[in-house]
Amino acid sequence: MLNSANLNWTPQQVQDEIDALKHNPGALLPILHAIQDRWGYVPREAVPLIAESLQLTRAEVHGVISFYHHFRTTPPGRHVVQLCRAEACQARGSRALETHVRDALGIDYHQTTADREITLEPVYCLGNCACGPSLRVGERIHGRVTPDKFDRLVDELTVQVLEVG
Ligand code: FES
Repeated sequence: MLNSANLNWTPQQVQDEIDALKHNPGALLPILHAIQDRWGYVPREAVPLIAESLQLTRAEVHGVISFYHHFRTTPPGRHVVQLCRAEACQARGSRALETHVRDALGIDYHQTTADREITLEPVYCLGNCACGPSLRVGERIHGRVTPDKFDRLVDELTVQVLEVG
């Protein structure tokens, strides 16, 4: 989940994901989740395949994708940083952290840095309320995040990129 390492997809692979779920009641959302979990986003080209398989219009599928901010329609950056905006984290200083994160990355929510390394997304509770402000990178949740801690985290991610690259 939230792993953008494999962004390559084929129509047949997308169709396989659809076929595995299309007979379930309310299959649209599970199919969209399955596609995004596998490729990090819902490719535009998946919409007609989904629509045809579920006997929906393309507009109906588009409508659901755009209604839920969770779904991306473009590939995410190498790392997805999800910053908690819920109440408990706000009480522990997440607003100030949020300002710092946006400034440090030079992007807003639902955007990706120009070098395509980091996508910033809001979340509303990561289940780590007592240790807020909280954020998640990939599968890992970080607590008591300060601006300094965030900057170090970005440095670590960058170092990983350099090592991998
Ligand atoms: S409110 Fe942020 S983790 Fe729960």
